[in-house]
Amino acid sequence: MDHFLYRDGILHAEDVPLPEIAASVGTPAYVYSAATLLRHYRLFDEALDWGPHLVCYAVKAASNVALLKLLGDEGAGMDVVSEGEYRRARAAGVPGDRIVFSGVGKTPGEMRHVLEGGIRQINLESEPEYRMLSEIASNMGIEVPVTVRVNPDVDAKTHEKIATGKSENKFGIPIAKARNVYAELATLPGLRVVGIDVHIGSQLTDLDPFRLAYRKVADLTETLRADGHTIDRLDLGGGLGIPYERSNLAPPVPLEYGQVVRDEVGHLGCEIEIEPGRLIAGNAGVLLASVIFVKEGEGRDFLILDAAMNDLIRPAMYGAHHDIVPLRETAAGAEMHPYDVVGPVCESGDTFTKARLLPPLAPSDVVAFRSAGAYGAVMASEYNSRPLVPEVLVRGENWSVIRPRPSYDEMIARESVPAWLDG
Ligand code: LLP
Repeated sequence: MDHFLYRDGILHAEDVPLPEIAASVGTPAYVYSAATLLRHYRLFDEALDWGPHLVCYAVKAASNVALLKLLGDEGAGMDVVSEGEYRRARAAGVPGDRIVFSGVGKTPGEMRHVLEGGIRQINLESEPEYRMLSEIASNMGIEVPVTVRVNPDVDAKTHEKIATGKSENKFGIPIAKARNVYAELATLPGLRVVGIDVHIGSQLTDLDPFRLAYRKVADLTETLRADGHTIDRLDLGGGLGIPYERSNLAPPVPLEYGQVVRDEVGHLGCEIEIEPGRLIAGNAGVLLASVIFVKEGEGRDFLILDAAMNDLIRPAMYGAHHDIVPLRETAAGAEMHPYDVVGPVCESGDTFTKARLLPPLAPSDVVAFRSAGAYGAVMASEYNSRPLVPEVLVRGENWSVIRPRPSYDEMIARESVPAWLDG
């Protein structure tokens, strides 16, 4: 459930009519609902309340500092994958002991930065990585809590570009090698093994792959404990999917996911960490876009919007579906029209969807791409020199721009012409 609903025929974000934001901020623009973000975070928190746990929001999904502050103040931990994300979480007031650092290619500089700033744990993904971390941490005279991300070779049954738990993926250490890896880790200075980490992919709409992976993690926990290791913490990753098409069957909800976790690893007495991103932020954000032209093509009409693939890349990159709705509610029984919905960017891949049935639309009408809160603004670029899309946060009847649209001058002023080119 989200807080983007029609009231008196106008789409609102909580208590704010979206046309008001579109008129004031301009389009394209992302708009987030604070109540929706918090609701989704709390659903996970409650789904794990049968034992000690920490919900570490995957910052990569939507990383605006205002969103992180909202979640952090509610008690959320954060899962970060770069120094930039770590700095954002800290800027939002999240203490280091609630931040976990994941990722397949952490640099020595990033490792040093989080060790200096404080970190709950580092999730390790390869032999060269843990040897490097051991050297850095021991030189700094500290011992850092670590887990090893294991690759359970489980098919997450999701889009191939966002599946991460098969042996052909670059992520984690093959689970069959885990005993040897933990044995070596135990001998290395500067590292304190606290648990196991796993993440098998994103936008999972079936609980079985989670079940399979978590069962393997439970078996491994027992094996490693028998080998004498301390396994007190299980980081079970993120990945629970959201209903992108409202007309389709809804994926499992956090409560059901929490039950799977309890069934598979609940008996081990470990503290549970999870790293959901999409389910917290996805349906908490929309992308507003205005119609520029309706262009008659051959056998089709193009709805040309002022949002493009640089603002929301998911359709171009993954063939992803986003529901598109007009801000003015469509009357029941209204005649629908098929549109190819496209942006102004100069490539054919800049197509959001083809033959989508929408009510007849005209220039300057505003539409909302739903479920755009996760992997939307964070993946935006300035391709075609289109200024970075702004972000707005709504809470109740209040709203604020939380990242302004840069002016053209600001965009261009970041660049400089070397003196030796100038004359
Ligand atoms: N933990 C790790 C280690 C991850 O790699 C990811 C996502 C998450 C947690 C959060 O997963 P979530 O709960 O959001 O599914 N850009 C793609 C999604 C990439 C996901 C990458 N990793 C998209 O737009 O669909």
